[in-house]
Amino acid sequence: MSVDQSETVTPRHRGVPYLGRTLTYVRAPMTMMRDQYDRYGPVSELDFIGRRWTVLLGPDACSEALLNRDKAFANQDGWGYLVGPFFDRGLMLLDFEEHHRHRRIMQAAFTRDRLENYTAALQPAVTAGLDTWIPQRDFRAYPALKDLTLDLATQIFMGGADLASPDADRLNQAFIDCVQSATALVRLDLPGTRWRRALRGRRLLEDFLRRHIAAKRARQDDDLFSVLCHLTTEDGERFSDDDIVNHMIFLLMAAHDTSTITVSTIMRYLGQHPEWQERCRDEAMLLTQNPSLSELDSLTSLDLVLKECLRLVPPVPVLARKTVKATEVQGRHIPAGRLVAVMMHLQHHMDELWPEPSRFDPERFAEHRRDDKVHRHAWEPFGGGVHKCLGMFFAGAEIKTIVLHLLRRFEWTVAPDYATPMNYTSLPFPQDGQPVDLRPLAPRPGRPTP
Ligand code: HEM
Repeated sequence: MSVDQSETVTPRHRGVPYLGRTLTYVRAPMTMMRDQYDRYGPVSELDFIGRRWTVLLGPDACSEALLNRDKAFANQDGWGYLVGPFFDRGLMLLDFEEHHRHRRIMQAAFTRDRLENYTAALQPAVTAGLDTWIPQRDFRAYPALKDLTLDLATQIFMGGADLASPDADRLNQAFIDCVQSATALVRLDLPGTRWRRALRGRRLLEDFLRRHIAAKRARQDDDLFSVLCHLTTEDGERFSDDDIVNHMIFLLMAAHDTSTITVSTIMRYLGQHPEWQERCRDEAMLLTQNPSLSELDSLTSLDLVLKECLRLVPPVPVLARKTVKATEVQGRHIPAGRLVAVMMHLQHHMDELWPEPSRFDPERFAEHRRDDKVHRHAWEPFGGGVHKCLGMFFAGAEIKTIVLHLLRRFEWTVAPDYATPMNYTSLPFPQDGQPVDLRPLAPRPGRPTP
């Protein structure tokens, strides 16, 4: 079909030189994305941290890039521009044949059997982590959850690899430095910059993992690090030491921040909607002390809440790509070598797709409604296509386990008119640490005890 040439000229938003719309995005991403979409449609251009980007908005444009039928969109140089030196050669930064090969090997680390093992290990680790939580009026949930998920990563991913506390603190800081590099304005190894801190963080993580590889190869355990060291496909393919270091660093990052922000969002909304908190708690109380994966599957209300929280605050709101050849999206031309921002966040909030999109309404995902079916790609917190999140079932198990144990021990409230001040300089996080009024769970008539 011939395309009208006038339609293929992609509109460009001209903003402040170098910064373009960076600051507008960081301050109010939803306003910026909606404005860009309303003015220019689903495919447009803008400047962002020093480069010209093509921006895809809305489910049709975003899914075209993710499904990538003509293999024009590559991850390595897209994500590479934002976080390349720090997450180099992680699965998400590989492309095409090589990506396919590595994903095939890694898939075996996320089978149902493996997930059962990780889930079993999660239970005592979460319980021990929550033992340190002290209920108080102004409890900052986000930093507490960040510590907890780091401990879980050490247990489940590393098998507790002799991590003394100063090591754990340094590792935690190293992750944070690497992730925060994404939106650094100065992208050079200069003193005092975020970029330099992130490079240092990457080296620290590499040294740490390399020190432990020989021991992990020598014995077979159930932690992810050990599993990656022993995976072999039917064709005899396995990961080299370098692969393992690169994949572990990426996996730790992929799992850590995403799960933390999701549980933090859940705590906010359950704190503001006590009827949902009670409903989730009623189901949580019915499970055994250390629930299996199948038991977690029976937490239907929590499942609805999780989906709704991932819609409201997707932990990875924008995906990065670079075109390796010229292509077209929604009839608009995109030249080769162009950075592309796939802004899935907007479609989670479009009133063309969702009734009252800013309202917390988990029921919209219930079978009798399934509002998400309005469009195949209306809800895509885990991405789509060949790079779709490999850890999404692990994430579900981890998040549900944490919330389940929270519900059994504590009750909490958040003022109904409170709105979390989100920081979008890297993956989104609550600037104020997500305060909640946390109390020990009080006995109530009709409420079963855990
Ligand atoms: C709520 C939690 C999570 C969310 C919302 C999330 C989201 C995403 C998204 C959007 C992508 C696609 C990136 C792209 O297309 O460029 C992705 C990729 C990935 N995620 Fe997750 N993730 C989560 C948790 C996890 C966890 C817990 C793990 C590991 C245990 C994990 C491992 C991965 C991996 C390995 C990839 C790369 C897949 C590939 O490129 O083939 N994620 N994730």
